[in-house]
Amino acid sequence: MADLLSKIADGTAVVGVIGLGYVGLPLMRAFNQAGMKVVGFDVDPRKIEALHRGENYLKHLGEDYVKNMVASGKFDATTDVMRMGECDALISCVPTPLGVHLEPDLAYVEATALDIAKTLRKGQLVVLESSTYPRTTREVMQPHFEAKGLKCGVDYYLAYSPEREDPGRKDHNTQTIPKLVGGIDARSGEVAVALYRKAIKQVVPVSTAEVAEAAKLLENIYRAVNIALVNEMKIVLQAMGIDVWEVVEAAKTKPFGFQAFYPGPGLGGHCIPIDPYYLTWKAREVGHTTRFIELAGEVNRGMPDYVVNRTMLALNGEGKAIKGSRILVLGLAYKPDVDDVRESPSFEIIEKLEHLGAEVDYNDPHVPATHKMRHHDLQMTSVEFSPEKLAGYDCVVVATNHAAYDWTAVGKHAKLIVDTRNAMRGVKGNVVQA
Ligand SMILES: NC(=O)c1ccc[n+]([C@@H]2O[C@H](COP(=O)([O-])OP(=O)(O)OC[C@H]3O[C@@H](n4cnc5c(N)ncnc54)[C@H](O)[C@@H]3O)[C@@H](O)[C@H]2O)c1
Repeated sequence: MADLLSKIADGTAVVGVIGLGYVGLPLMRAFNQAGMKVVGFDVDPRKIEALHRGENYLKHLGEDYVKNMVASGKFDATTDVMRMGECDALISCVPTPLGVHLEPDLAYVEATALDIAKTLRKGQLVVLESSTYPRTTREVMQPHFEAKGLKCGVDYYLAYSPEREDPGRKDHNTQTIPKLVGGIDARSGEVAVALYRKAIKQVVPVSTAEVAEAAKLLENIYRAVNIALVNEMKIVLQAMGIDVWEVVEAAKTKPFGFQAFYPGPGLGGHCIPIDPYYLTWKAREVGHTTRFIELAGEVNRGMPDYVVNRTMLALNGEGKAIKGSRILVLGLAYKPDVDDVRESPSFEIIEKLEHLGAEVDYNDPHVPATHKMRHHDLQMTSVEFSPEKLAGYDCVVVATNHAAYDWTAVGKHAKLIVDTRNAMRGVKGNVVQA
């Protein structure tokens, strides 16, 4: 342990990051900026090749994001898992999706544990960052390492530290977001805390890996439940003819006891629609149900249907049916100003409108074309955003409020606008809120 701690202290420890996506790439860069040598691992050779060319494939982070790291002389990236043994610390940031029955799919976490185990040696630290249910680090990862005859806390160290990345956010970044760290045992916790303190401003040690795992779930469940609450409020208030957005702004003026959440067309992204169900699944093991999570899921999953229904009513008001109407959906990404389409409700809205007989196009300045996903394969390309195009549709559905959109032009040229984001606030036009 002393060896590893001193390598961490003098900055000579080599940090390996596994899974170079939205979470792994910024983390690898943070350690590199702290002056440490980093080695990135990914199964996708296109990502590795792009990095070696100094190219950043996560557009929201800016074109030059990886250039300095790659030029630092303290960077390498590879698909070769046998090189994991070169690293003093290995941090796994691989996906944790849901299976078709909303059960945790830990195949990626298992795969990395097996890869790490191949070259695991004395004095290495392993950290899991993927969002997951409590005890994953201990029950899913650790057995692969113990099978090598190495003892945790003595021969090697194992910890969990949740990622709190929020792609597109400008007021915080990987270095400034406080980092929870919990070890499988006290020594593992101590080593992991020392490592993160090299790159992250504020590290918050917690007593166990399980506390860190559960804290991450609590954060995301809190968001899922509160978004469901405000979505439910929206449905009720819209039926009463009351502007839910103005209501949220009014409630927000209370200086304590209220945090504003905003309604929308449904949940998106790799976290909020998924992570809560990890706890639902694990809770059954201890004989409990997670009623808040399931209720929130039910409300949030119903939002695309609500939007389609409001679109149908709005068209009806114009004397038109959905069947045969031409509809443009603005925004495919699940939130503004990013190109991330994972779990985006826009896909479901488009599919449902098409199912009802509409002819649907989309525009998204960040998503020029769709690609095959786990649940959707739209095979569409983004149409032009222009006055002529806007005027050519029977209805424009605002699904994502990208900053790039000219809402005045939407209000001026679109015949009918169904707005799920309050993007048209204060803009003249034929607008129906949804
Ligand atoms: N995206 C976010 O905003 C966010 C925020 C907080 C937490 N998280 C969590 O972080 C984890 C990673 O999410 P992400 O958004 O970075 O995912 P991502 O899909 O952007 O990146 C994951 C990367 O892992 C790679 N990969 C898959 N299997 C691998 C393997 N066996 N070995 C090496 N690389 C492998 C993929 O090719 C991909 O590049 C998830 O558990 C997620 O819930 C994500």
